[in-house]
Amino acid sequence: MKNKKQPIIRLNANENSHGCSPEVQKTIKKGLINVHLYPSLPVRLEEKLAEKFNVDATDIVVGAGSVRLIDGIIQTFVEPDEEIILFERSFVAYEQLAAAHRRKYSFAKQTDFICDVENIFQLITKKTKVIFIANPNNPTGTIITHSQLEQLLKNISEKIIVVIDEAYCEYVTDKSFPDSFSLQKKYPNLIILRTFSKIYGLAGLRIGYGIMRGDMANVLKQNRIPFFFNSLSEDAALASLKDKRFISSCIKKNTKYRNILYEKLKQAGLNVISPQGNFLYVFFDSENKKEELFSKFTTNGLIVCNLKVFGQDKSLRISVGDAAAVEKICLCLE
Ligand SMILES: Cc1ncc(COP(=O)(O)O)c(C=O)c1O
Repeated sequence: MKNKKQPIIRLNANENSHGCSPEVQKTIKKGLINVHLYPSLPVRLEEKLAEKFNVDATDIVVGAGSVRLIDGIIQTFVEPDEEIILFERSFVAYEQLAAAHRRKYSFAKQTDFICDVENIFQLITKKTKVIFIANPNNPTGTIITHSQLEQLLKNISEKIIVVIDEAYCEYVTDKSFPDSFSLQKKYPNLIILRTFSKIYGLAGLRIGYGIMRGDMANVLKQNRIPFFFNSLSEDAALASLKDKRFISSCIKKNTKYRNILYEKLKQAGLNVISPQGNFLYVFFDSENKKEELFSKFTTNGLIVCNLKVFGQDKSLRISVGDAAAVEKICLCLE
């Protein structure tokens, strides 16, 4: 299998290995002629998303990636003496951005690699302002269910904002996944975050959005920096929403390859968590064993995420990839 010219396959950032819709490529080419012009506010995209989700356009906030919205939520809604609750083994940006804004934060525990909502209650204080939950969780790939999310919302003060970050929701096959829009109607302190970076394949264009109560959306919009949005991004996002066939084919492939990889990793005797996103979480008894597999992957051109960089010494996260990636991973596990 060793070959100097072998292509490098990136499986370390949960991008869409199938690229993006050809319609997006065409749209961007057309838009190139106008890159000397400043972008306008992404009103067309906000309206389209409002139509898609059957909410008011005033409830939608588009940002340069959902990380920009996470940043805005912390900066805008959490006062310097207030606190944030995150989960251990979750998306690192929550912690990084809370620290960057010098806000206090604490970590709720997981149980069997699943964010355990019960563990949030004991961390809540009078100062708690925002709770971040990635669902599915990155890097473990597990979900919290509709009833677990409702249990949280039902039992906390409506002054606490719960951010449910659904960056990977399109990949979920578990039927108990929350219907966050129906919960938001009942609990308007729920903010839903979504992104064009994953299934839509537009990570490089930086487009994310939040759905929230109109007054919160309005404050977030006022705090955006001028010209925050790339002029090609809005057209690309609109084109990607139109191409439903591309999205459903990506979902189908992801489900198929995710199952193959899950079974293969288990057969190889590895500890792999049942995945709901476009990535798999593998944990080891020792760091040495993890490094061994990581090196084998790297030598074979497979760049997976060594979670040591995020303080998890014994774990790897492997994005699902395309057919060629799956074949190569399987060969490495023989
Ligand atoms: C849970 C989660 N939320 C948000 C993001 C970032 O999304 P965006 O590219 O829209 O900033 C990621 C990226 O990996 C993620 O894992």
